[in-house]
Amino acid sequence: MASILDCEDAMEPTTQIQSIFPDEQDIPPEFSLKEPIHQNQFLVDGNLHTHDGPSQEIYSPIFLKSNSGFSQKLIGTVPSLTEDESLVALQSAEQAYDHGRGPWPTMSVSERIERIRHFICLMEKKKDEIVNLLMWEICKSYKDSVKEFDRTVIYIKDTIDSLQDLDRVSSRFVIEQGIIGQIRRGPLGVVLCMGPFNYPLNETFTILIPALIMGNTVVMKPPKHGVLLHSPLLSALKESFPEGVVNTVYGAGRKIIPPLMSSGKVNVFGFIGSHKVAHSLKQLHPRLHRLRSVLGLDAKNPAIILPGADLDLTVKECILGCLSYNGQRCTALKILFVHKNVAELFLEKLSDAIGKLRMGMPWDEGVSITPLPEPGKTDYLSGLVEDAKRLGAEIVNPMGGEINHTFFYPTVLYPVTSQMKIYHEEQFGPVIPVVPFSNIETPIRYVEESNFGQQISIFGTDPEAIAKLIDPLVNQLSRVNINSQCQRGPDTFPFTGRKDSAEGTLSVSDALRAFSIRTLVGAKDGKMNKEILTKIVRDRYSKFLSTDFIL
Ligand code: G3H
Repeated sequence: MASILDCEDAMEPTTQIQSIFPDEQDIPPEFSLKEPIHQNQFLVDGNLHTHDGPSQEIYSPIFLKSNSGFSQKLIGTVPSLTEDESLVALQSAEQAYDHGRGPWPTMSVSERIERIRHFICLMEKKKDEIVNLLMWEICKSYKDSVKEFDRTVIYIKDTIDSLQDLDRVSSRFVIEQGIIGQIRRGPLGVVLCMGPFNYPLNETFTILIPALIMGNTVVMKPPKHGVLLHSPLLSALKESFPEGVVNTVYGAGRKIIPPLMSSGKVNVFGFIGSHKVAHSLKQLHPRLHRLRSVLGLDAKNPAIILPGADLDLTVKECILGCLSYNGQRCTALKILFVHKNVAELFLEKLSDAIGKLRMGMPWDEGVSITPLPEPGKTDYLSGLVEDAKRLGAEIVNPMGGEINHTFFYPTVLYPVTSQMKIYHEEQFGPVIPVVPFSNIETPIRYVEESNFGQQISIFGTDPEAIAKLIDPLVNQLSRVNINSQCQRGPDTFPFTGRKDSAEGTLSVSDALRAFSIRTLVGAKDGKMNKEILTKIVRDRYSKFLSTDFIL
């Protein structure tokens, strides 16, 4: 495999950054993308419609060298739908749901599970294609792209297991206070599903799959970056589900999503992205009380590094926490509070560790730092760095702040204060602000005053000092990590946040609850009712009233 260091071991680091983008012919053949993918279809009513209207060009964050200089590679196009076309997709989902009478919401749980299993088989065949597109579209490393795909498949399989458990518990009658009842979870209606660019497959599917398996119908809008990688799955979605159950829309979100919300016909808003977008879209719904929202939003997770912390372990976890996928994770560590007594040594170790990270293209072996997909991102990050420098911070690590087109070298800023933008804004990129403290109230106040409330990491070795932090922090945040980076997984753990960081909880089992509602059939205990219920169950007249047990 061609790798940037093969020719750069002798190169100055700055030269490495300036020569980070490859020649097309140097790309390993197994990862090359010779021709753009013109995906001009969208799935509505169970049909793959060909869109002959305007399309949206998709560029990779990767620039390629040519005779005339460097240019960003065009990797494909997707349809740019109109508001009306988007509404047709919604209508299709609504018709498939048919007030809960459609084939999908009335299908038995085991039949729905079979459809999802069929989808997994088809999806697994597309792994290489999807992994390659993850690399080209969002520059996630090969290793992490494979991990994203595999994690998604495991998530779907775990969801099936979890639903089977849930269904087994519901496959019985209960008798309470003279009422015989059977309680199950039922679907909610039409789900609008929108995932984020940093986990375009995984987080889209952590909404899509639980929504579907519970019997809802879906309109899905893939993220702006990470859209083409859904193309290989279109025919699998078409083949696996009844018509209208899954519908896809493409184009400018600000144009095609508001009409869906304003229609009042979206029952569940499953969204992972910024709270500003979530807020503005929710407001459009004319009957807000009818809308359930399941949202994963912004975060600015801090780390507190106490005196006595194991600094080697701390640096290892902070590197993972701050810089995995270039810091573009909602769970990333986005501000580090370091006790003054250990600040100098910590910064030295952190800076050394960053210097050892490999930068390059997503297919380079062992690569950590890759180009950033969001247009204008490097300018935004430079602005944050300049603002911090103007207000007294310095760049601590060699090469910090260096840029080449979409590539931004990790940058440690110290000492960061509350006057600086980086103290407050979610950078979602490889800038690491470090705040010195001598009073533990400083980081605690930060958490209390923050608009975000997702997670925190505490690094230390004194059990009493750590325990004193845990108790106030668990009531401000949704997860406290000890000597470990912040993260969503394992996917069976609850993933949520307080304040502007989330609404609802996602995990394999929580998501099944989030996309459904408890519903029951009850009857006063008496001879006639018992006979009716017995006959319904024995002769299998109903899918809801049933004691069938999934083995
Ligand atoms: O972007 C937010 C993701 O949910 C983070 O997931 O912690 O597994 O990387 P992760």
